[in-house]
Amino acid sequence: MTKGPSHATQLAPGEHVHTVDDHGARVQHMFSDIAHGYDRANRIMSLGTDIRWRRQAVSDLLPDELRAAAEAAGRRPRLLDLCAGTLDSSIEIHRQFPTADVIGGDFSAKMLARGREKLRGAERERITTRDMDAHDLPEDDQSLDGMFCAFGVRNLSDLDRATAEMARCLRPGGRLTVLEFFRPQGLVTRVVHTLHNRTVLPIVGWAATGNLGAYLYLPRSIGDFVTVDEYRALLERHGFGDVTLTRLTLGIAWVVRATRQPHTTTERASA
Ligand SMILES: C[S@@+](CC[C@H](N)C(=O)[O-])C[C@H]1O[C@@H](n2cnc3c(N)ncnc32)[C@H](O)[C@@H]1O
Repeated sequence: MTKGPSHATQLAPGEHVHTVDDHGARVQHMFSDIAHGYDRANRIMSLGTDIRWRRQAVSDLLPDELRAAAEAAGRRPRLLDLCAGTLDSSIEIHRQFPTADVIGGDFSAKMLARGREKLRGAERERITTRDMDAHDLPEDDQSLDGMFCAFGVRNLSDLDRATAEMARCLRPGGRLTVLEFFRPQGLVTRVVHTLHNRTVLPIVGWAATGNLGAYLYLPRSIGDFVTVDEYRALLERHGFGDVTLTRLTLGIAWVVRATRQPHTTTERASA
């Protein structure tokens, strides 16, 4: 299905990306409200760990053979950073894969605008932003060589529908990499999560952005989310294979890597 040309890449001022439901609208509003302090809160809360996690997660996003195949076909590889927020991951993707075109996609225009202010030099050439909802990607079938999503999938209204969209837009052999906090399974991780999320996180988040509600939402969203094993099963149901799970810092976060299998039937989920 061809979807690209009919979708504008950037909205007019005051316009919002249409969300699939009320939950989506609330999440969109919340991130737009904290966009100004989002990076500051992240750095303080993680003491820079998120930078290391991102660097590790982005490596392997574009296997050499896919990059070579794109170049042999006379085009640049296309990589989507979904739920890109203020573009930290898009910038890291560009740093590791400078010949690729990177698209930072998000449904909060304010988060993306904040991110664009950070772009310098070649980043401005290779990284573009696109307003989009993860449940209805404005990308053609099999048009992406890789897809990355950091701390995004936990916020989605319909994980099944969004995963089907990811599978639809990736080329066979293309990699999906997800960096995320999943619902913790082990006792130690549960304790670390609970202590950190109920103390440091709301205080720092509130101090950096003035929005306490957003930083109370975050631990709730982790508690309500799937476990990493449940997420692996969901990816396999949607035609992903070679799924690997990498534990980061005592299992606080995970990197999930999966490959879009060649013979998957992907249909756009109905609205
Ligand atoms: C926790 S932030 C992560 C931002 C960035 N990936 C990072 O690692 O800093 C989650 C982002 O996902 C975006 N988001 C949440 N639900 C979305 C959806 N349905 N479609 C597109 N973006 C979404 C939010 O607007 C927000 O920018």
